[in-house]
Amino acid sequence: MVLSNGQELFPRGYDVAAIACPELYVVGLDISDIAIKKAVELSSSLPNASCFNFLKADFCTWSPSELFYLILDYTFSCAIEPDMRLAWAQRIRDILKPADTPLSPSPVPN
Ligand SMILES: C[S@@+](CC[C@H](N)C(=O)[O-])C[C@H]1O[C@@H](n2cnc3c(N)ncnc32)[C@H](O)[C@@H]1O
Repeated sequence: MVLSNGQELFPRGYDVAAIACPELYVVGLDISDIAIKKAVELSSSLPNASCFNFLKADFCTWSPSELFYLILDYTFSCAIEPDMRLAWAQRIRDILKPADTPLSPSPVPN
C-alpha cells in the first residue's frame, strides 16, 4: 500500500525491502509474530532500512493513521477463507485512497 505522501504497505518482507526507498516509505503488515520476526531479521541491516518498517497487526481491525494509495495484498486468495473475503476487500477499500489501486498478486482460484 502506498500512502499519498509516498508511504507503502506490503504484507511480504522481501517486497518491502526491495521497493522501499527515500521517496517511498513501506510498511509490511502481518498478523504472525514469526513472519514479522523473520522479516525484521532479514532486512534490518539493509542500507534502506530507514525506509520501511514491519508491523504485527490484524488487517481486519487495523486502522492506519493515513490512507494508502497502493495496496499489494498477498493474502486475499490464499490465506483468507472465502466467506471472509468480502470483509477483507471492504477493509482494503476503507484504507485505500479513492480511485487508487489495490493489487492482489496471489493466484485467484477458478
Ligand atoms: C501468503 S502469506 C504472506 C507472506 C508472509 N507475510 C511473509 O512475509 O512471508 C499470507 C500471510 O497472511 C497473514 N495473515 C493472515 N490473516 C491475516 C490478517 N487478518 N491480518 C494480517 N495478516 C494476516 C499470514 O500470517 C501470512 O503470513
